[in-house]
Amino acid sequence: MEKQTCDQCIRLENIFKAYEGKEILSDFNLAIRRGEFLTVIGSSGCGKTTVLKLINGLIRPDSGRILINGQDLADLDLIRLRRNIGYVIQEVGLFPHMTVARNISYVPDLIGKETKGDIRSRTRDLIQLVGLEPELLLRYPSELSGGQRQRVGLARALAASPDILLMDEPFGAVDEITRKQLQQEIKGIHQKLGVTIFFVTHDIREAMKLGTRVLIMDQGKIMQEDTPSYVRDHPREGFVQDLLESYLDNSCS
Ligand SMILES: Nc1ncnc2c1ncn2[C@@H]1O[C@H](COP(=O)(O)OP(=O)(O)O)[C@@H](O)[C@H]1O
Ligand SMILES: [Mg+2]
Repeated sequence: MEKQTCDQCIRLENIFKAYEGKEILSDFNLAIRRGEFLTVIGSSGCGKTTVLKLINGLIRPDSGRILINGQDLADLDLIRLRRNIGYVIQEVGLFPHMTVARNISYVPDLIGKETKGDIRSRTRDLIQLVGLEPELLLRYPSELSGGQRQRVGLARALAASPDILLMDEPFGAVDEITRKQLQQEIKGIHQKLGVTIFFVTHDIREAMKLGTRVLIMDQGKIMQEDTPSYVRDHPREGFVQDLLESYLDNSCS
């Protein structure tokens, strides 16, 4: 246990990762502090999802180490680790044969530490936290809109009270209006719960709006990582500047 890294919730050190001989990440380093909302943006295929999957142990690095709350991920029990890490993806993959309530309480039910009554009341709190009416708890996923399903997926990811939330283009498949609402929701949830968020997006406006820090990647490399206002005012030449151009055009008009 390394005490000096304890304020750093997630740390990737000298990570190398290749697929079929093709190097995706090469000496990749990143530290995420507790309570940060890190948005990660970059061109398709640049390695964003790879970094995210390394953090929850879905894939292993070829070399280098990953520390979660100061502990080497290689030494951790992955099942317990993942209970502490909420995971939200684009198409959330709710269990179709289970009601919304059972989808949300799936992990707490599985862990079996809390009473049924406690779980029920927290499920009601969670559905409201993500901006839905408790009436929806009795429905099945097929009876919800895409945006509602995404909210239920978020509630399910929060149900085991994780320290860390990993989100991989979570709002990529919903319409513009729903997307704006979901962005407000996740911002509020971050402020309320203080959870550490790693949020992958391909929308520069979303990255700048939500992040307390923005990380810009290209071809497996970090091009810049800083607060949205610093990135806006001091974009690094080249890739970052090009990426920001469309954003600045839009935000001025
Ligand atoms: N399981 C895999 N096998 C082979 N190549 C993969 C695999 N997963 C991802 N890749 C490749 O690795 C690169 C990075 O992928 P990914 O991290 O998913 O990118 P991003 O999320 O930034 O779009 C891409 O070129 C992708 O095709
Ligand atoms: Mg991806």
